[in-house]
Amino acid sequence: MLLAAGTAVYGQSARTAAPAQQAANRPTVVAGIPVNYSEDSTGTYVLPDLLKCSDGQMVTSAKMWTEKRRPELLKMVEETQFGKMPPAPGKVRASLLEKETIALQGKAIRRQVRIYLTTDTTDHYMDLLVYTPVATKKPVPLLLNISFLAYNQIIEDEGLHVGNIWKDGKKIPATQPGTFGKMNIDQFMDAEIGFATVYYGDIEPDFKDGLPLGIRSRYLKAGQAQPAPDEWGAIAAWGWGLSRALDYLQTDRKVDAGRVALQGASRLGKTVLWAGIRDTRFAMVIASISGEGGAALARRNYGETIAHITDPSRYLYQFAANYHNYADQVQNMPFDAHALVALMAPRPLLLQTGSTDYWSDPKGEYLSALAAAPVYRLFNKTAPVNAPFPDAGDTALLMSDLGYYMHDGGHTVLPEDWTLMIRYMQKFLR
Ligand code: GCU
Repeated sequence: MLLAAGTAVYGQSARTAAPAQQAANRPTVVAGIPVNYSEDSTGTYVLPDLLKCSDGQMVTSAKMWTEKRRPELLKMVEETQFGKMPPAPGKVRASLLEKETIALQGKAIRRQVRIYLTTDTTDHYMDLLVYTPVATKKPVPLLLNISFLAYNQIIEDEGLHVGNIWKDGKKIPATQPGTFGKMNIDQFMDAEIGFATVYYGDIEPDFKDGLPLGIRSRYLKAGQAQPAPDEWGAIAAWGWGLSRALDYLQTDRKVDAGRVALQGASRLGKTVLWAGIRDTRFAMVIASISGEGGAALARRNYGETIAHITDPSRYLYQFAANYHNYADQVQNMPFDAHALVALMAPRPLLLQTGSTDYWSDPKGEYLSALAAAPVYRLFNKTAPVNAPFPDAGDTALLMSDLGYYMHDGGHTVLPEDWTLMIRYMQKFLR
């Protein structure tokens, strides 16, 4: 693995993080495949026309996009890239690990909830930590984060249940502190926004051959050793789990389930993008450093490519096996990442990137947003039009329904990024 899972850093300073990440994010050969970082060698490519339906008809209205073009694109992306997933299980079953408790020096009401992903309660459960502001009487909008670590490792708060995390193929108690800084939850409370988080490994492990240990194994049909080539990889499974968290949040009186934003970084940035596309109950997505397989254009040869990401020695298990078919022929893929961006329309989508995160190709995400903008405009939503590629730290493209922001730094989420995300939520989840 190129970067340890968990390189999505919480609360680390840009200045100390950048140099090491810069080197880590510029490998020249990965899985035996050379990596390009020269703007002169990104190749020439033509993106599939988002507004042209498979039968040649052009989309002329928001209604036509929603009823005709969106479903066909969704099916393509699902069957080619992330894989089909099962419907929601009948009824959400949840038990409270902790009833409502006052936390964070009196600012928040906290609860810890165990959500069962199957009908038996011995295995396959996901622990959800929820904070809502004490001071707000009405149901609040909420940020639902999916994390590389158990919540007791990312938040400083007495009384948090110690989760279990994967280590060397086994689940162990998360008693070690996380290696990164802690999340600042107070700022959400002050902004009257709820905060919730889950550990991705509760849903599906993140390693090759982890299949028998995760939720996907429970859905294998008789005689099936692997999901079919158009069925879910780990990313779709993590996203499916986020929908189960939302099932639960819909029953929480203090949360306005119609105003839940999703956030995740890196492979979890890809995850929230796909989860938000699939489950339109999510009101907003904030995809941090999602890169290849996320919002970055695949046809642009810069940093990671489909060949790198789907190499069986690397992350093929995160995707539908079909995705690998395009490793050497991306030009024939019936869509590109601008389709993923457009599939979120008209709901707000913020792409958060880093200027020295070369491997993830921040410019490829910006070009993707430009190419998806016409779809947002069909809905009279704001999106970048002819905007120049912003400098690091420039917030010019941030406050649009289709927003883009690149921090000065690497493959990480910086403290100031959270502040901007809160501003974005305050504007678009009113
Ligand atoms: C690797 C992978 C990326 C992914 C990243 C992460 O670098 O190649 O596609 O985004 O891990 O999840 O940290």
